[in-house]
Amino acid sequence: MIIGGSASQALASEVALMLNDKLCSIETKKFPDGERYLRIRDEIPQDEEVYIVQSTGYPQDENLMEVFFILDTLQDMNVTNITLISPYLGYSRQERRFKDVECISAKATAKLLQSMGVKHLVSINLHEDSIIELYDIPVDNISAMPTIAQYIKEEYPDEKPVLLAPDKGALNFAKEIATILDTDYDYLEKVRLSPEKVETKTKNISVENRSVIIIDDIISTGGTIVNAIGILKKQNAKLVDVICVHPVLVNDAVLKINAAGANSLKSTNTLKSDVSVISVATTISDHIKSL
Ligand code: R5P
Repeated sequence: MIIGGSASQALASEVALMLNDKLCSIETKKFPDGERYLRIRDEIPQDEEVYIVQSTGYPQDENLMEVFFILDTLQDMNVTNITLISPYLGYSRQERRFKDVECISAKATAKLLQSMGVKHLVSINLHEDSIIELYDIPVDNISAMPTIAQYIKEEYPDEKPVLLAPDKGALNFAKEIATILDTDYDYLEKVRLSPEKVETKTKNISVENRSVIIIDDIISTGGTIVNAIGILKKQNAKLVDVICVHPVLVNDAVLKINAAGANSLKSTNTLKSDVSVISVATTISDHIKSL
């Protein structure tokens, strides 16, 4: 049985449809003071395998609290076989301490989810692999890149664009897609030309007169992508499209990316947004089938 949290209802129903599974209905509302009410509307047999689908992006605390309420209600129903599918797992950006006595919020989140009864966690392109080590339960970090590759194949039938990572950290994403599509990939590298001068350029291949797709896991403020577009334009790329997995897109990130000259901006639907056109429902349902 699939339970869709309110941040991921549409995605959960797509997954349920693909698996021919029942989508369990929940009722949520907010009281006038802002507190949340939750009720699981369907009967769930105790031995049922339950998959909660809920991304915990903005508003992170509310979305997480909803997961806790679902978990606690399931415990009251003596349902224990629970997998949390959190396509975008919030609080994944502080998985270690950068300064003394900071809260490692990814660890606190892990402790809470486990103590509330999550037996298995599935997420998509976690910000850092080291998040997995914060959990004592199995964690599957699945990749949306094959789904993105399929999208690119359909959208660019006549040409093979260059897949470009805006920094070395995203190189594996560009490589994964380029390998599936049999196209070129590269990343932007900072090169120190002199003690005073740093230049950022493509590491190995020229993008001149070529279509380029910038690929990243997360776009938050858009700063990384705006910088990359500027560099690619200077290097005379024919056009620059942008694709990411998790469209966090804070404030005016979309405007900034458009103003920088992006031909298009697309993302998966791990988070809801105007650009979330690539569905990860197959990514998730294929993974569930493989379990
Ligand atoms: C960095 O590790 C990530 O892959 C993204 O490049 C980063 O989170 C993007 O952030 P922003 O959009 O704020 O530049």
